Amino acid sequence: MTSPTEASPKHVVVGVGGGIAAYKAIELVRILTDRGCFVSPVLTPAAKEFVGELTFSALGSEPARSELFSDQTTPIPHTFLGQRADAIVVVPTTAHLLARLAMGLADDLLTATILASRAPIILAPAMHTEMWEQPSVQRNIETLRTRGYIFVGPEDGALAGGDSGMGRLSDPIEIARVVVSVLDGFEGPLTGRRIVVSAGATKEALDPVRYMTNRSSGRQGHAIAEVAARMGATVALVTASPLELAPDVRSSIQLTRVSTAEEMGEAMSRLFKSADVAIMAAAVADFTFDAAANKLKKRDGAPDPTWIESKDIVAQLVSDKTENQLVVGFAAETHDVLTNAQAKLEAKSLDLLVVNDVSDETIGFDGTHNAVTLLSLGEPPTTIARGTKDAIALEVLTRVDLLLLKEKK
Ligand code: CTP
Repeated sequence: MTSPTEASPKHVVVGVGGGIAAYKAIELVRILTDRGCFVSPVLTPAAKEFVGELTFSALGSEPARSELFSDQTTPIPHTFLGQRADAIVVVPTTAHLLARLAMGLADDLLTATILASRAPIILAPAMHTEMWEQPSVQRNIETLRTRGYIFVGPEDGALAGGDSGMGRLSDPIEIARVVVSVLDGFEGPLTGRRIVVSAGATKEALDPVRYMTNRSSGRQGHAIAEVAARMGATVALVTASPLELAPDVRSSIQLTRVSTAEEMGEAMSRLFKSADVAIMAAAVADFTFDAAANKLKKRDGAPDPTWIESKDIVAQLVSDKTENQLVVGFAAETHDVLTNAQAKLEAKSLDLLVVNDVSDETIGFDGTHNAVTLLSLGEPPTTIARGTKDAIALEVLTRVDLLLLKEKK
Protein backbone atom coordinates (compact mmCIF):
# COMPACT_ATOMS: atom_id res chain seq x y z
CA MET A 1 0.00 0.00 0.00
CA THR A 2 1.16 3.50 -0.67
CA SER A 3 1.24 6.01 2.14
CA PRO A 4 0.08 9.56 2.51
CA THR A 5 3.05 11.85 1.92
CA GLU A 6 4.41 14.22 4.52
CA ALA A 7 3.97 17.12 2.10
CA SER A 8 0.20 16.68 2.02
CA PRO A 9 -0.64 14.69 5.13
CA LYS A 10 -4.03 13.03 5.36
CA HIS A 11 -5.94 14.08 8.46
CA VAL A 12 -7.21 11.19 10.54
CA VAL A 13 -9.25 11.52 13.71
CA VAL A 14 -8.55 8.54 15.96
CA GLY A 15 -11.53 8.29 18.30
CA VAL A 16 -11.00 6.30 21.46
CA GLY A 17 -13.95 4.62 23.19
CA GLY A 18 -14.24 3.57 26.82
CA GLY A 19 -13.26 -0.09 26.73
CA ILE A 20 -10.33 -2.10 28.01
CA ALA A 21 -8.94 -2.29 24.45
CA ALA A 22 -8.43 1.51 24.49
CA TYR A 23 -4.73 0.95 25.13
CA LYS A 24 -4.44 -0.59 21.64
CA ALA A 25 -5.53 2.73 20.11
CA ILE A 26 -2.14 4.07 21.22
CA GLU A 27 -0.48 1.60 18.85
CA LEU A 28 -2.82 2.65 16.02
CA VAL A 29 -1.92 6.33 16.53
CA ARG A 30 1.75 5.43 16.34
CA ILE A 31 1.36 3.36 13.15
CA LEU A 32 -0.66 6.08 11.42
CA THR A 33 1.75 8.90 12.35
CA ASP A 34 4.66 6.67 11.19
CA ARG A 35 2.87 6.39 7.86
CA GLY A 36 2.76 10.17 7.53
CA CYS A 37 -0.85 10.81 8.61
CA PHE A 38 -1.74 13.86 10.69
CA VAL A 39 -3.47 12.21 13.64
CA SER A 40 -5.90 14.00 15.96
CA PRO A 41 -6.75 11.85 18.98
CA VAL A 42 -10.23 12.35 20.44
CA LEU A 43 -11.15 10.49 23.63
CA THR A 44 -14.62 9.93 25.05
CA PRO A 45 -15.01 10.69 28.78
CA ALA A 46 -15.18 6.93 29.45
CA ALA A 47 -11.96 6.31 27.48
CA LYS A 48 -10.11 8.52 29.98
CA GLU A 49 -11.00 6.01 32.70
CA PHE A 50 -8.84 3.46 30.83
CA VAL A 51 -6.00 5.48 29.25
CA GLY A 52 -4.38 8.86 29.81
CA GLU A 53 -4.73 11.75 27.35
CA LEU A 54 -1.05 12.54 27.79
CA THR A 55 0.06 9.38 25.95
CA PHE A 56 -2.14 10.25 22.97
CA SER A 57 -0.90 13.86 22.99
CA ALA A 58 2.69 12.63 22.96
CA LEU A 59 2.18 10.20 20.07
CA GLY A 60 -0.45 12.09 18.02
CA SER A 61 0.22 15.01 15.69
CA GLU A 62 -1.49 17.48 18.02
CA PRO A 63 -2.71 17.41 21.63
CA ALA A 64 -5.49 14.93 22.37
CA ARG A 65 -8.96 16.37 22.88
CA SER A 66 -11.96 15.16 24.87
CA GLU A 67 -13.98 18.28 25.67
CA LEU A 68 -16.80 19.59 23.52
CA PHE A 69 -17.11 22.93 25.31
CA SER A 70 -13.81 23.99 26.84
CA ASP A 71 -11.32 23.69 23.96
CA GLN A 72 -8.62 26.36 24.24
CA THR A 73 -7.82 26.46 20.49
CA THR A 74 -11.26 26.70 18.89
CA PRO A 75 -14.80 27.33 20.20
CA ILE A 76 -16.25 24.66 17.92
CA PRO A 77 -13.78 21.76 17.88
CA HIS A 78 -16.22 19.19 16.48
CA THR A 79 -16.92 21.00 13.18
CA PHE A 80 -13.25 21.90 12.79
CA LEU A 81 -12.14 18.29 13.34
CA GLY A 82 -15.00 16.74 11.37
CA GLN A 83 -14.64 18.96 8.31
CA ARG A 84 -10.85 18.64 8.16
CA ALA A 85 -10.79 14.84 8.54
CA ASP A 86 -10.05 12.60 5.56
CA ALA A 87 -11.07 9.62 7.70
CA ILE A 88 -12.29 8.96 11.22
CA VAL A 89 -11.50 5.68 12.97
CA VAL A 90 -12.92 4.65 16.33
CA VAL A 91 -10.88 2.19 18.44
CA PRO A 92 -12.39 0.50 20.37
CA THR A 93 -16.01 1.07 19.34
CA THR A 94 -18.00 0.04 22.40
CA ALA A 95 -21.60 -1.18 22.42
CA HIS A 96 -22.58 2.19 23.90
CA LEU A 97 -20.82 4.10 21.11
CA LEU A 98 -22.55 1.93 18.47
CA ALA A 99 -25.91 2.80 20.03
CA ARG A 100 -25.11 6.52 20.17
CA LEU A 101 -23.92 6.55 16.54
CA ALA A 102 -26.95 4.56 15.35
CA MET A 103 -29.19 7.10 17.09
CA GLY A 104 -27.27 10.04 15.64
CA LEU A 105 -26.46 11.45 19.10
CA ALA A 106 -23.83 14.15 19.53
CA ASP A 107 -23.40 14.14 23.29
CA ASP A 108 -19.59 14.31 23.45
CA LEU A 109 -16.75 15.56 21.27
CA LEU A 110 -16.25 12.26 19.42
CA THR A 111 -19.88 11.64 18.43
CA ALA A 112 -20.33 15.35 17.57
CA THR A 113 -17.20 15.21 15.35
CA ILE A 114 -18.52 12.12 13.55
CA LEU A 115 -21.85 13.83 12.88
CA ALA A 116 -20.07 16.96 11.65
CA SER A 117 -18.03 15.03 9.07
CA ARG A 118 -18.51 13.71 5.54
CA ALA A 119 -15.33 11.60 5.80
CA PRO A 120 -15.43 7.78 5.75
CA ILE A 121 -15.97 6.41 9.26
CA ILE A 122 -14.17 3.21 10.24
CA LEU A 123 -15.37 1.41 13.37
CA ALA A 124 -13.37 -1.31 15.15
CA PRO A 125 -15.73 -2.80 17.75
CA ALA A 126 -14.51 -4.58 20.88
CA MET A 127 -16.61 -5.90 23.73
CA HIS A 128 -17.47 -9.07 25.60
CA THR A 129 -19.21 -11.81 23.60
CA GLU A 130 -22.45 -11.45 25.58
CA MET A 131 -22.65 -7.78 24.61
CA TRP A 132 -21.63 -8.43 20.99
CA GLU A 133 -24.39 -11.01 20.57
CA GLN A 134 -27.19 -8.78 21.87
CA PRO A 135 -29.85 -8.23 19.20
CA SER A 136 -29.78 -4.51 20.02
CA VAL A 137 -26.04 -4.33 19.27
CA GLN A 138 -26.41 -6.34 16.07
CA ARG A 139 -29.29 -4.14 14.97
CA ASN A 140 -27.20 -1.01 15.52
CA ILE A 141 -24.38 -2.52 13.45
CA GLU A 142 -26.76 -3.29 10.57
CA THR A 143 -28.12 0.26 10.73
CA LEU A 144 -24.62 1.73 10.59
CA ARG A 145 -23.50 -0.63 7.82
CA THR A 146 -26.39 0.40 5.61
CA ARG A 147 -25.36 4.03 6.17
CA GLY A 148 -21.89 3.22 4.81
CA TYR A 149 -19.89 2.92 8.04
CA ILE A 150 -16.91 0.62 7.50
CA PHE A 151 -16.39 -2.13 10.10
CA VAL A 152 -13.14 -3.89 10.97
CA GLY A 153 -13.61 -6.95 13.17
CA PRO A 154 -14.18 -7.87 15.89
CA GLU A 155 -12.30 -11.16 16.01
CA ASP A 156 -12.71 -14.37 17.95
CA GLY A 157 -10.04 -14.66 20.64
CA ALA A 158 -8.86 -13.77 24.13
CA LEU A 159 -10.92 -11.11 25.93
CA ALA A 160 -10.42 -9.14 29.14
CA GLY A 161 -10.77 -11.00 32.43
CA GLY A 162 -9.46 -14.29 31.06
CA ASP A 163 -12.52 -14.87 28.86
CA SER A 164 -12.41 -15.91 25.25
CA GLY A 165 -14.86 -15.53 22.37
CA MET A 166 -16.15 -13.16 19.72
CA GLY A 167 -15.51 -9.50 20.49
CA ARG A 168 -11.73 -9.08 20.48
CA LEU A 169 -10.44 -5.90 18.82
CA SER A 170 -8.77 -6.50 15.43
CA ASP A 171 -5.00 -6.09 15.38
CA PRO A 172 -4.07 -2.37 15.15
CA ILE A 173 -1.95 -3.20 12.07
CA GLU A 174 -5.05 -4.58 10.33
CA ILE A 175 -7.09 -1.52 11.36
CA ALA A 176 -4.32 0.76 10.04
CA ARG A 177 -4.30 -1.18 6.74
CA VAL A 178 -8.01 -0.49 6.29
CA VAL A 179 -7.57 3.21 7.18
CA VAL A 180 -4.71 3.65 4.70
CA SER A 181 -6.63 1.76 1.97
CA VAL A 182 -9.59 4.07 2.46
CA LEU A 183 -7.31 7.13 2.35
CA ASP A 184 -5.50 5.87 -0.76
CA GLY A 185 -8.74 5.45 -2.68
CA PHE A 186 -7.21 2.33 -4.26
CA GLU A 187 -4.79 3.37 -7.00
CA GLY A 188 -3.05 0.49 -8.75
CA PRO A 189 -2.31 -1.34 -12.01
CA LEU A 190 -6.02 -1.87 -12.71
CA THR A 191 -7.02 1.77 -12.20
CA GLY A 192 -9.43 2.71 -14.99
CA ARG A 193 -10.37 -0.93 -15.71
CA ARG A 194 -13.95 -2.09 -15.12
CA ILE A 195 -14.31 -5.69 -13.98
CA VAL A 196 -17.45 -7.68 -13.31
CA VAL A 197 -17.03 -10.83 -11.21
CA SER A 198 -19.48 -13.62 -10.37
CA ALA A 199 -19.18 -15.76 -7.25
CA GLY A 200 -20.88 -18.46 -5.21
CA ALA A 201 -23.21 -21.37 -5.79
CA THR A 202 -26.58 -20.70 -7.41
CA LYS A 203 -29.70 -22.28 -5.87
CA GLU A 204 -32.42 -23.87 -7.97
CA ALA A 205 -35.81 -24.49 -6.40
CA LEU A 206 -37.45 -27.92 -6.44
CA ASP A 207 -40.52 -26.69 -4.62
CA PRO A 208 -41.27 -23.71 -2.33
CA VAL A 209 -39.08 -25.11 0.49
CA ARG A 210 -36.29 -27.10 -1.19
CA TYR A 211 -33.50 -26.25 -3.57
CA MET A 212 -30.46 -27.81 -5.23
CA THR A 213 -27.08 -26.18 -4.91
CA ASN A 214 -23.37 -27.12 -4.80
CA ARG A 215 -20.39 -26.85 -2.45
CA SER A 216 -18.89 -23.60 -3.75
CA SER A 217 -18.52 -21.07 -0.89
CA GLY A 218 -17.90 -18.03 -3.09
CA ARG A 219 -14.64 -17.24 -1.25
CA GLN A 220 -12.43 -17.28 -4.36
CA GLY A 221 -14.81 -15.08 -6.38
CA HIS A 222 -15.14 -12.62 -3.50
CA ALA A 223 -11.34 -12.54 -3.13
CA ILE A 224 -11.01 -11.72 -6.84
CA ALA A 225 -13.49 -8.85 -6.55
CA GLU A 226 -11.80 -7.50 -3.40
CA VAL A 227 -8.24 -7.75 -4.71
CA ALA A 228 -9.30 -6.20 -8.05
CA ALA A 229 -10.75 -3.23 -6.13
CA ARG A 230 -7.49 -2.88 -4.15
CA MET A 231 -5.60 -2.93 -7.47
CA GLY A 232 -7.62 0.09 -8.55
CA ALA A 233 -10.30 -1.50 -10.76
CA THR A 234 -13.92 -0.42 -10.72
CA VAL A 235 -15.58 -3.63 -9.60
CA ALA A 236 -19.09 -5.05 -9.76
CA LEU A 237 -19.68 -8.35 -7.95
CA VAL A 238 -22.67 -10.57 -8.69
CA THR A 239 -22.78 -13.10 -5.89
CA ALA A 240 -24.90 -16.03 -4.84
CA SER A 241 -22.83 -16.36 -1.64
CA PRO A 242 -23.92 -14.90 1.72
CA LEU A 243 -20.32 -13.75 2.43
CA GLU A 244 -19.79 -10.11 3.41
CA LEU A 245 -17.24 -7.98 1.60
CA ALA A 246 -13.98 -7.06 3.37
CA PRO A 247 -14.38 -3.77 5.25
CA ASP A 248 -11.79 -1.78 3.30
CA VAL A 249 -13.48 -2.37 -0.07
CA ARG A 250 -17.10 -2.59 1.02
CA SER A 251 -17.98 0.89 -0.11
CA SER A 252 -16.10 0.63 -3.43
CA ILE A 253 -17.59 -2.57 -4.87
CA GLN A 254 -20.99 -2.54 -6.57
CA LEU A 255 -22.67 -5.58 -5.01
CA THR A 256 -25.60 -7.48 -6.56
CA ARG A 257 -26.94 -10.44 -4.60
CA VAL A 258 -28.64 -13.17 -6.65
CA SER A 259 -29.92 -16.65 -6.00
CA THR A 260 -30.65 -18.52 -9.24
CA ALA A 261 -28.64 -19.11 -12.43
CA GLU A 262 -31.23 -17.08 -14.33
CA GLU A 263 -30.81 -14.06 -12.00
CA MET A 264 -27.03 -14.35 -12.22
CA GLY A 265 -27.14 -14.53 -16.03
CA GLU A 266 -29.34 -11.46 -16.26
CA ALA A 267 -27.10 -9.43 -13.92
CA MET A 268 -23.84 -10.52 -15.59
CA SER A 269 -25.09 -9.75 -19.12
CA ARG A 270 -26.31 -6.32 -18.05
CA LEU A 271 -23.12 -5.38 -16.15
CA PHE A 272 -20.74 -6.78 -18.79
CA LYS A 273 -22.02 -4.22 -21.31
CA SER A 274 -20.08 -1.53 -19.47
CA ALA A 275 -17.08 -3.63 -18.35
CA ASP A 276 -13.68 -4.49 -19.82
CA VAL A 277 -13.47 -7.93 -18.22
CA ALA A 278 -15.92 -10.55 -16.94
CA ILE A 279 -14.62 -13.16 -14.50
CA MET A 280 -17.05 -16.07 -14.03
CA ALA A 281 -15.88 -17.59 -10.75
CA ALA A 282 -19.42 -18.68 -9.80
CA ALA A 283 -20.45 -22.32 -9.67
CA VAL A 284 -23.60 -22.04 -11.78
CA ALA A 285 -26.16 -24.84 -11.77
CA ASP A 286 -26.06 -26.68 -15.08
CA PHE A 287 -29.70 -27.69 -14.62
CA THR A 288 -32.71 -26.06 -13.05
CA PHE A 289 -36.13 -27.57 -12.38
CA ASP A 290 -39.68 -26.98 -13.34
CA ALA A 291 -40.32 -26.23 -9.65
CA ALA A 292 -43.51 -27.57 -8.06
CA ALA A 293 -45.94 -24.84 -6.98
CA ASN A 294 -46.68 -26.64 -3.70
CA LYS A 295 -44.45 -28.52 -1.27
CA LEU A 296 -43.70 -32.03 -2.52
CA LYS A 297 -45.13 -34.59 -0.09
CA LYS A 298 -43.32 -37.74 1.03
CA ARG A 299 -46.47 -39.82 0.60
CA ASP A 300 -46.33 -39.10 -3.16
CA GLY A 301 -43.01 -40.99 -3.43
CA ALA A 302 -39.57 -39.96 -4.73
CA PRO A 303 -39.88 -36.72 -6.73
CA ASP A 304 -39.14 -36.86 -10.42
CA PRO A 305 -38.84 -33.20 -11.45
CA THR A 306 -38.30 -32.08 -15.02
CA TRP A 307 -34.65 -31.07 -15.38
CA ILE A 308 -34.07 -28.04 -17.59
CA GLU A 309 -30.60 -27.18 -18.86
CA SER A 310 -29.73 -23.68 -17.68
CA LYS A 311 -28.31 -21.06 -20.01
CA ASP A 312 -24.51 -21.10 -20.13
CA ILE A 313 -23.76 -17.61 -18.86
CA VAL A 314 -20.09 -17.54 -19.80
CA ALA A 315 -20.92 -18.74 -23.33
CA GLN A 316 -23.42 -15.89 -23.61
CA LEU A 317 -20.81 -13.37 -22.44
CA VAL A 318 -18.30 -14.70 -25.00
CA SER A 319 -20.84 -14.40 -27.80
CA ASP A 320 -21.76 -10.84 -26.72
CA LYS A 321 -18.23 -9.57 -26.18
CA THR A 322 -16.63 -6.92 -28.36
CA GLU A 323 -12.97 -7.13 -29.39
CA ASN A 324 -12.02 -4.89 -26.48
CA GLN A 325 -13.47 -7.17 -23.82
CA LEU A 326 -12.05 -10.24 -22.07
CA VAL A 327 -13.92 -13.21 -20.60
CA VAL A 328 -12.33 -15.37 -17.90
CA GLY A 329 -13.86 -18.71 -16.91
CA PHE A 330 -13.28 -21.13 -14.06
CA ALA A 331 -13.23 -24.92 -14.27
CA ALA A 332 -13.67 -27.21 -11.29
CA GLU A 333 -12.47 -30.67 -12.27
CA THR A 334 -11.99 -33.91 -10.33
CA HIS A 335 -10.20 -36.07 -12.94
CA ASP A 336 -8.18 -35.69 -16.18
CA VAL A 337 -7.95 -32.14 -14.94
CA LEU A 338 -5.79 -30.47 -17.59
CA THR A 339 -7.24 -32.41 -20.53
CA ASN A 340 -10.81 -31.54 -19.53
CA ALA A 341 -9.83 -27.93 -18.82
CA GLN A 342 -8.02 -27.47 -22.15
CA ALA A 343 -11.13 -28.77 -23.96
CA LYS A 344 -13.29 -26.33 -21.96
CA LEU A 345 -11.01 -23.38 -22.80
CA GLU A 346 -11.33 -24.13 -26.51
CA ALA A 347 -15.03 -25.07 -26.51
CA LYS A 348 -15.99 -21.91 -24.64
CA SER A 349 -13.50 -19.62 -26.54
CA LEU A 350 -12.33 -18.08 -23.27
CA ASP A 351 -9.46 -15.62 -23.00
CA LEU A 352 -8.34 -17.27 -19.77
CA LEU A 353 -9.41 -20.34 -17.80
CA VAL A 354 -8.63 -20.75 -14.11
CA VAL A 355 -8.50 -24.46 -13.34
CA ASN A 356 -9.19 -25.96 -9.92
CA ASP A 357 -8.48 -29.59 -9.06
CA VAL A 358 -11.31 -30.06 -6.56
CA SER A 359 -10.30 -33.65 -5.79
CA ASP A 360 -7.41 -32.18 -3.73
CA GLU A 361 -8.85 -31.82 -0.23
CA THR A 362 -6.18 -29.37 0.98
CA ILE A 363 -7.62 -26.67 -1.29
CA GLY A 364 -10.85 -25.45 -2.80
CA PHE A 365 -14.47 -25.20 -1.72
CA ASP A 366 -14.85 -23.82 1.80
CA GLY A 367 -11.17 -23.38 2.65
CA THR A 368 -9.08 -20.25 2.86
CA HIS A 369 -6.45 -21.57 0.43
CA ASN A 370 -6.43 -22.61 -3.18
CA ALA A 371 -4.06 -23.73 -5.95
CA VAL A 372 -4.85 -23.29 -9.64
CA THR A 373 -3.53 -23.64 -13.16
CA LEU A 374 -3.99 -20.79 -15.64
CA LEU A 375 -4.72 -21.73 -19.25
CA SER A 376 -4.93 -19.39 -22.20
CA LEU A 377 -4.78 -20.23 -25.90
CA GLY A 378 -1.32 -20.56 -27.36
CA GLU A 379 0.34 -20.36 -23.92
CA PRO A 380 1.78 -23.18 -21.82
CA PRO A 381 -0.18 -23.87 -18.60
CA THR A 382 0.97 -21.80 -15.61
CA THR A 383 0.77 -23.50 -12.23
CA ILE A 384 0.04 -21.21 -9.29
CA ALA A 385 1.21 -22.88 -6.08
CA ARG A 386 -1.02 -23.26 -3.01
CA GLY A 387 -1.69 -19.91 -1.37
CA THR A 388 -4.45 -17.87 0.24
CA LYS A 389 -7.41 -17.10 -1.98
CA ASP A 390 -6.26 -13.44 -1.97
CA ALA A 391 -2.83 -14.54 -3.25
CA ILE A 392 -4.45 -16.64 -6.02
CA ALA A 393 -6.68 -13.68 -6.90
CA LEU A 394 -3.59 -11.47 -7.26
CA GLU A 395 -2.03 -13.98 -9.71
CA VAL A 396 -5.23 -14.25 -11.76
CA LEU A 397 -5.63 -10.47 -11.91
CA THR A 398 -1.98 -9.93 -12.79
CA ARG A 399 -2.51 -12.25 -15.77
CA VAL A 400 -5.70 -10.36 -16.69
CA ASP A 401 -3.73 -7.11 -16.55
CA LEU A 402 -1.08 -8.60 -18.87
CA LEU A 403 -3.73 -9.83 -21.32
CA LEU A 404 -5.32 -6.37 -21.39
CA LEU A 405 -1.94 -4.74 -22.05
CA LYS A 406 -0.91 -7.37 -24.62
CA GLU A 407 -4.06 -6.88 -26.63
CA LYS A 408 -3.68 -3.09 -26.09
CA LYS A 409 -7.20 -3.15 -24.72
N1 CTP B 1 -20.79 -21.52 -16.30
C1 CTP B 1 -21.72 -20.60 -16.73
N2 CTP B 1 -23.03 -20.94 -16.86
C2 CTP B 1 -23.43 -22.21 -16.59
C3 CTP B 1 -22.48 -23.16 -16.16
C4 CTP B 1 -21.17 -22.80 -16.02
O1 CTP B 1 -21.36 -19.45 -16.97
N3 CTP B 1 -24.71 -22.51 -16.74
C5 CTP B 1 -19.39 -21.09 -16.18
C6 CTP B 1 -18.78 -21.19 -14.81
O2 CTP B 1 -18.98 -20.02 -14.07
C7 CTP B 1 -17.31 -21.38 -15.14
C8 CTP B 1 -17.34 -22.12 -16.46
O3 CTP B 1 -18.63 -21.93 -17.01
O4 CTP B 1 -16.65 -20.17 -15.33
C9 CTP B 1 -17.08 -23.58 -16.37
O5 CTP B 1 -18.00 -24.17 -15.47
P1 CTP B 1 -18.09 -25.73 -15.34
O6 CTP B 1 -19.24 -26.11 -14.47
O7 CTP B 1 -16.73 -26.27 -14.95
O8 CTP B 1 -18.33 -26.08 -16.85
P2 CTP B 1 -19.46 -26.80 -17.61
O9 CTP B 1 -19.47 -26.21 -18.97
O10 CTP B 1 -20.75 -26.72 -16.85
O11 CTP B 1 -18.89 -28.26 -17.70
P3 CTP B 1 -19.05 -29.55 -16.73
O12 CTP B 1 -19.94 -29.13 -15.59
O13 CTP B 1 -19.65 -30.56 -17.61
O14 CTP B 1 -17.64 -29.86 -16.31
